[in-house]
Amino acid sequence: MGPKEHWEMIYSTKAAHAVSWYQEHASLSLNLIRAAGVSANGAIIDVGGGASTLVDDLLNDGFGNVTVLDLSGAALEAARRRLGTRAPRVHWLEANITKVTLAPHAYDVWHDRAVFHFLTTPEDRSAYVRSVLHAVKPGGHVIVATFAEDGPTQCSGLPVMRYSADALHSEFGEPFRLLRHEKEAHHTPNGTVQQFIYCFWRKLRSQLDFKTASKPTEADRSRSGCADLSAVVQEADDHRGEHGDLRKDHLQRGKDAEESNARRTEQGSYVDDTRLLQRRHAFAG
Ligand SMILES: C[S@@+](CC[C@H](N)C(=O)[O-])C[C@H]1O[C@@H](n2cnc3c(N)ncnc32)[C@H](O)[C@@H]1O
Repeated sequence: MGPKEHWEMIYSTKAAHAVSWYQEHASLSLNLIRAAGVSANGAIIDVGGGASTLVDDLLNDGFGNVTVLDLSGAALEAARRRLGTRAPRVHWLEANITKVTLAPHAYDVWHDRAVFHFLTTPEDRSAYVRSVLHAVKPGGHVIVATFAEDGPTQCSGLPVMRYSADALHSEFGEPFRLLRHEKEAHHTPNGTVQQFIYCFWRKLRSQLDFKTASKPTEADRSRSGCADLSAVVQEADDHRGEHGDLRKDHLQRGKDAEESNARRTEQGSYVDDTRLLQRRHAFAG
């Protein structure tokens, strides 16, 4: 049975409040989303949201631009049924997060509780991080919660990865500044306790940001197989390709940007073009 069939079977045979990951209120998630400081129109995506009650509380909080993405149509249907007349206010996306192409720079906040830890191959984790880089606005916030190092080794009968805050941070890498991490002891409906780790990042937008961000080591990167600046450069390539601006020499354009930033810094009006700088550094080796 593939992952989609697995999750459709789970949500078709179990009540949403009976699954081990059920929370009456996703309070820590909600607090972190509030801490991101987005406006009521801010675009929030709950990746692998399933039938979570987070969407109900986001609507209650006045957020009006919420997307729930999940592999399982049955999970989304359960959430829609619960929301009733409020369901049409939510964007529902039935998709695999390692395969879907989301709109570029569409979201202010990316939230995922208990989905990333199911990605047990470096390829799937790379695809996931590429999606975050692609879909989250520069300066947007990313919240990912997985089982902690002392958490269970399986979830819903599937093997999972377990993370410390450092290990989870190194999966995401340089383009993200880790603002906060927090452990949570989750009490399941059948009375067991599962340790989670939540990481809360800001997706960086400027060269200055990169200079001061905590950097994963080479060992971290080769272990995770993803998430160094080359992913951002690749994303920049894609973006530029869409806009037909690939003809000019990369090094020259990077140099222009660096000189222009230096001038603007002197003039006190620094507005960085990080992508050009990254491309220059990437091509300069
Ligand atoms: C353990 S549940 C967590 C649900 C929800 N985030 C919560 O905290 O209540 C994992 C969810 O991730 C979804 N899922 C698993 N793999 C996925 C993937 N590759 N893409 C999208 N959703 C996925 C499942 O259908 C399920 O709803």
